[in-house]
Amino acid sequence: MYQHLYQHFLNARPGLLHCAPHSHYYWPDITREAQLAYWDDSARFADEKWGYLFTEKVPELQKNIADELNLANPDQIVFAPNTHELVYRLLSVFSAAEPLTILTTDGEFHSFNRQSRRILERGNVTLECVPCEPVYNFAERWHAAVAKQSWDLIFISQVFYNSGIVAPEPKQWLEFVQDEKTMIVVDGYHGFCALETDWAPYEHRIFYLAGAYKYAQGGEGMCFAVVPQGCRLRPEYTGWFANFSGLAKEQKGVVNYSEDGMRFAGATMDFSALYRLNAVFKLWQQEELNTATRHAYITKLQKAFLNHIDTLNHAQLNRQNLLLAENVEAVQHGHFFTFLLESAEAVEELADRLREQGVATDYRNNRLRFGFALYQNPSDFQKIRG
Ligand SMILES: Cc1ncc(COP(=O)(O)O)c(C=O)c1O
Repeated sequence: MYQHLYQHFLNARPGLLHCAPHSHYYWPDITREAQLAYWDDSARFADEKWGYLFTEKVPELQKNIADELNLANPDQIVFAPNTHELVYRLLSVFSAAEPLTILTTDGEFHSFNRQSRRILERGNVTLECVPCEPVYNFAERWHAAVAKQSWDLIFISQVFYNSGIVAPEPKQWLEFVQDEKTMIVVDGYHGFCALETDWAPYEHRIFYLAGAYKYAQGGEGMCFAVVPQGCRLRPEYTGWFANFSGLAKEQKGVVNYSEDGMRFAGATMDFSALYRLNAVFKLWQQEELNTATRHAYITKLQKAFLNHIDTLNHAQLNRQNLLLAENVEAVQHGHFFTFLLESAEAVEELADRLREQGVATDYRNNRLRFGFALYQNPSDFQKIRG
C-alpha cells in the first residue's frame, strides 16, 4: 500500500520480504534528495556550515521531534551520531571515584548492557537488573525494585528490544522513585515514531533517548536525547558543541555548558542524517501518515501475519512461542514480534531457512524477530513457509 514511497530500496533488493525494519528500516525515496541537499549545502556554506546548521536545520529537526513527542521545549533536544554516545555522556555525569547504583532490566540494548557491565569493573558500582520475564508480573517486580532504595541511575526501555513488549509507563512507577536526584532514562528507540508517545508529563524529569534508523526511517547517524528542562548536570565526556554560543570566549578555567539540552552535546558529526530525518517528517506530513495511522497499518500487518502462521501449524513459528503482554488486546505492542525458541542454534537454522525462502528476519540468541513495515502488504506473509 505504501511501497511507492520506498522504490529505491525495494528495487535494489528484488524478491526479498524484509522483516527486519526494527533493526534497519528501509529509507523512503525522499531521503535520497535530502542526502544530496546536505552535500550541496556543505559546498554552499563550507566553513560557515555549522552556523547555518545550528540556526536553521537543527531547530527544524528539534521542532519535528518536539511535535512528535508533544514537548514544549524543542531546545532541550540534543543530537549525537548514536545512542551509545549519549548513554556514555550520561554515565560520565557520575564521578568514577564515587559509588554508583544502577537499576535496569535484562532487556536493554547491547550498548547499555555492555557499558553498564564494563563499569562494574570499577569496583564501586552496583547494578541491579530486573528480568523482563515472566512478562505477567514484570510491572510488579519493577515497581518493587524502584521503591527498594535510592538509586543514582534508573534506565529502562520504552519497548523492549528483545520482545517488542511495551515496558510499564513511567506514570506507573515514578512516584516510587525515592530520590529527586535520581537520573531517570528511558530508551525510546523502539517506541519513537512507532507508537504514539506523549512525553509532556515527563519532559521536566526524565531523559528520553531515541534515533532515526528504525521507525523514524532516516538511517543511521542521528540519535537524540530529550534533556529535562532546568538540568544542570555536567557530563565529563563533553565536546565543543556543548557550549556552542560560548565558543568565541576564552577557553580557560571551569568548563561551562549550554543552558539547554546542548549541554549534553559532543563534537563535529556528519549531519546528513539530520537532512534525511527532516525529509521523512515532511513526507509524513504530505502523505498525512502520522504515527497513529502508521501504527494502525502495522497492527493490520501483524494480524495478517498471525493469521498466516496459524495456518502453518509450525513447530516453532506458533503463538505458544510468541512473546506478548498478558493483556495484549488492551495494550499496544511494538512493531516486531519475537519467537522464543529452544536454542540459539535452532533460531539460526530457522532464520537461514526463511532467508532461502526470501524472508529476511533477524535474531538475538534464542529469539527470532519478525518486524513489520510500511513497505509490506498483508498478503506478503504468504511467502513464509517456515
Ligand atoms: C533499544 C535500542 N536502543 C538503542 C539502539 C541503538 O543503539 P546505538 O545507537 O548505540 O547503536 C538500538 C538498536 O538496535 C536498540 O534496539
